[in-house]
Amino acid sequence: MESQGAAADLQRAQAFFDSRPLYERPLGVGHTVPVGLGSMSAASCGACHTEIYEEWKVSTHALAWEDRQYQVEIAKSDNRWLCLNCHTPLLAQQDVWPVGLIDDDVERPQLVDNSSFDADLRGEGITCASCHVREGVIHGPGLGGEPPHPVQVDTDFQSEALCLRCHQATATYPGKTFTCVFNTGQEWANGPYPAEGKNCVSCHMPEAQRPAAIGGPVRTVRQHWWRGAGIPKVAGVHPPPQANPPGLGLTAAWQADGVHIDAVNANAGHYLPSGDPERWVQVVVTFHNGAGQAVGEPWMQRYGQEWTWWPEPEKHGDTRLAPRESRSYVVPLPSGASTATVVASSHRMSEETAGYHELEGYPLSVETHRLTVRP
Ligand code: HEC
Ligand code: HEC
Ligand code: HEC
Ligand code: HEC
Ligand code: HEC
Repeated sequence: MESQGAAADLQRAQAFFDSRPLYERPLGVGHTVPVGLGSMSAASCGACHTEIYEEWKVSTHALAWEDRQYQVEIAKSDNRWLCLNCHTPLLAQQDVWPVGLIDDDVERPQLVDNSSFDADLRGEGITCASCHVREGVIHGPGLGGEPPHPVQVDTDFQSEALCLRCHQATATYPGKTFTCVFNTGQEWANGPYPAEGKNCVSCHMPEAQRPAAIGGPVRTVRQHWWRGAGIPKVAGVHPPPQANPPGLGLTAAWQADGVHIDAVNANAGHYLPSGDPERWVQVVVTFHNGAGQAVGEPWMQRYGQEWTWWPEPEKHGDTRLAPRESRSYVVPLPSGASTATVVASSHRMSEETAGYHELEGYPLSVETHRLTVRP
């Protein structure tokens, strides 16, 4: 670790980041508290923006640093500096800054200590300031009113642009065992939703009629839940199901030749599932007889990707559902069956991967549908 004084280090880090592609850069610097405010912590914003704060607090964004899976993964990474730019995206939230790469190797960064590192702000992950504060000014969609802090209207907040900074990043790193495969933005752009005027914000930040700050006028504002798949990071902590429905639409009917299943990506504006390549959605059918005993073998369908990571990442399969894509199946009836139970669930990672990371007790999945079908 070397240092040339705080201002010089910051300049070198910024020059380094400017030489890198957009998805390898932090969102902002974030050292300057806006005039009129005492702090940049989410709780301090929450003193006035109460409901937004309560929503954000249980979001995955708020847990982007503390997440146990993230912590075990970065502890093993030599490319940690890359991870920080999306999970703690202000320079003020980062303990060390890269100022160069030895032999142009992303796993051999030259690091300097950040002398104005704010550990509490880092703990908040993707916090209010990460998205909203730039050079001591609050950026937003343009509400009007009389905020006690400087405000700048920013077109990134009136579209999907802010979201894409982190949710659209694809890159390969030849010779390395990692890759960057966040393609949610492209999946959305290729689907039917842009033409219908629906973007990330329309679905993940639903509208509400309420004051944007306590004591202010009722306005059309946006909820800050970003529920997504709804698999908690901490058991019991997650936005309510109404924040966004599950992506999957599922119907099942008992007919003479078997149970007819229709699975459709009814609600996700991108592939189901999107984002992290280890995620999958599954549908399982089990049968019982009149005495309640299991008969036949369970039937299962899995929607997800297949990758191997060594010696280099390689994709072997992809059975995910494109936006609005539907698939139909007929599941044969085992003899003696009188009821079928159809259960769908959304998974973050397999038990095997959780075991490898020593993530005992970490929530791995959430049930989204349970249907009982009879003749
Ligand atoms: C992941 C980025 C992100 C984070 C984190 C975030 N916001 Fe926002 N915020 C947005 C976007 C995008 C909008 C604009 C939504 C629209 O109107 O289209 C917005 C809008 C707002 C508005 C204007 C009113 C409204 O709801 O449209 C306020 C006030 C606000 N945010 C405060 C906060 C506070 C306080 C926090 C932390 C508790 C926070 N935001 C965290 C992205 C973020
Ligand atoms: C002392 C109260 C107070 C605090 C603290 C506060 N705000 Fe505000 N903020 C307001 C008021 C009032 C408005 C205007 C609301 C209105 O008129 O509907 C506002 C507006 C906003 C807007 C909308 C800007 C626009 O026009 O697009 C955003 C975004 C925002 N605040 C974010 C934050 C963030 C982030 C923090 C913490 C770093 C914060 N605020 C702290 C009171 C506060
Ligand atoms: C600074 C980078 C960044 C920005 C900007 C950002 N996100 Fe995220 N988002 C993340 C990360 C990182 C996670 C996952 C955190 C984790 O799991 O540890 C995430 C998680 C999510 C999830 C939850 C996924 C789940 O199933 O739990 C949704 C939904 C989401 N983001 C939507 C959005 C939308 C919509 C916007 C734009 C308003 C946005 N994000 C802006 C980085 C970002
Ligand atoms: C038409 C509505 C819609 C649009 C548009 C949309 N999403 Fe989603 N998104 C969903 C739903 C519904 C889910 C829940 C999927 C599930 O059940 O796993 C989801 C899930 C997610 C997840 C979690 C991964 C997963 O598949 O579960 C992330 C991350 C995400 N969305 C980000 C985004 C971003 C970024 C955009 C804009 C490029 C966007 N979404 C556009 C509806 C939408
Ligand atoms: C370009 C931005 C970006 C970078 C760089 C990045 N991430 Fe993420 N990360 C995301 C987004 C977006 C999500 C949410 C995707 C989803 O929910 O499927 C996420 C989610 C995660 C998750 C949670 C996965 C889940 O299923 O809930 C972990 C763990 C994680 N990232 C670890 C890392 C590590 C380790 C690194 C560095 C090697 C890293 N990330 C670098 C954007 C990024």
